[in-house]
Amino acid sequence: MEKFSIEGPSKIRGEIKISGSKNSSLPILAATLLFNKPVIIKNLPKVKDINTMISLLRSLGSKVILSKDRRIAKIYNKKKIKTFASYSLVKTMRGSILVLGPLVAKYFQSKISLPGGCLIGARPINYHLDALKKLGMDYILKDGYILAKSKGKLKGATIKFPKISVGATENSIIAACLAKGITILKNCAVEPEIKDLTNFLNLGGANITWKGRTCKIVGVTTLNKTEYSVMSDRIEAGTFCVAATITGGNLDVLNFDAKIINTELNLLKKFGAKIKIYKKKLSIKGPKNIKSVTNIKTGEYPGVATDMQSQLMVLMCKANGKSYITENIFENRFMHVAELRRLGAKIIIKKNKAFVEGNTKFIGAELMSSDLRASVSLVLAAMVSKGKSIIHRIYHLDRGYENIENKLKKIGVRIKRLNYE
Ligand code: UD1
Repeated sequence: MEKFSIEGPSKIRGEIKISGSKNSSLPILAATLLFNKPVIIKNLPKVKDINTMISLLRSLGSKVILSKDRRIAKIYNKKKIKTFASYSLVKTMRGSILVLGPLVAKYFQSKISLPGGCLIGARPINYHLDALKKLGMDYILKDGYILAKSKGKLKGATIKFPKISVGATENSIIAACLAKGITILKNCAVEPEIKDLTNFLNLGGANITWKGRTCKIVGVTTLNKTEYSVMSDRIEAGTFCVAATITGGNLDVLNFDAKIINTELNLLKKFGAKIKIYKKKLSIKGPKNIKSVTNIKTGEYPGVATDMQSQLMVLMCKANGKSYITENIFENRFMHVAELRRLGAKIIIKKNKAFVEGNTKFIGAELMSSDLRASVSLVLAAMVSKGKSIIHRIYHLDRGYENIENKLKKIGVRIKRLNYE
């Protein structure tokens, strides 16, 4: 196990290159199970969740050849594939459920472990199962597993999701590509990662079109040899933009299309950041005094990303007034609050709202990571704390942030990865 030691306060300066999107790579890698021909996926981020998905594909029988730098995967599927995803693989990453749709669509069966809840909420998969059932999948739940099968090809259907879900939208789109006939999905999530998945599948010969939150998929019989480069990670980019804003820093964010975090950038402007947008780059300058933005609500895209909630809360702690943030996506996504309090934050939680007292003077402390995004908010807070902070359980960060300590070091943060003696 490893930990971070961060010596604050920091002022960041320089440039940062954004890695490929984790949340885009996961469904795209799962969707490669639909292909008979080789598929090449480029710009994969070097993070643990991608290793887990690749291990899962290999355990199913896909042949995955990684380039030396692990950013490019060449994937071939054998004629016969195993359709069993074990608990040991699924428990480490809920995104593993994304192999259910393609396995049933292509191989007509799957046995996959039920993902458990996690710290940020119960995270059920009922919308995934209901939608796939409407496409013709039968299933039972037994001994912690989903035993699913279909009588031959899935059949196109019209499905309206009762609530917007990123994962259920992705699983259903992937499955519907090889279904007989037309599928209409209504009330879909429209996160940029879902559009990236659509672009990949269409390049491979799928027939997917969008109108607002409605997605139309005309089933095809087979998908072709394809080469695709995954989009850049908008949450990584947004996190570094908060880092620049909170430290009064000056940062160029490279390899990134700023349009996809328009909502969050507009918020950062209200906090006082000055932002310039170029073709594949943005420049951000943090203010001397952070203004308070009194009321922020997370929501489905194009709303404020829930994956940016904890980072924005750190900014609210440092702003010059009181404010509050409402978490509308996950029921228990305030685990970072107790840790931020250890640094001196004054935050009160009432149901899904966190009321934040501004003007906090953070003082370094020992902190515990609890999930991916909560952990990165601790890194941000430690960067603007006086003195040394130690952050434990950083394996949560390694799931989704590529080489974060080296990227931060390069822009002026005094951060070290340490082993426990
Ligand atoms: C994805 C992202 C995650 C992000 C989240 C919301 C990946 C790998 N993860 O997670 O980083 O925070 O979108 O933007 O892309 N729900 C149900 N039943 C279901 C499915 C979802 O009740 O079958 C609920 C969830 O508990 C949650 C809400 O719907 O309260 C939204 O979840 P969803 O959009 O599905 O999130 P994920 O796809 O799990």
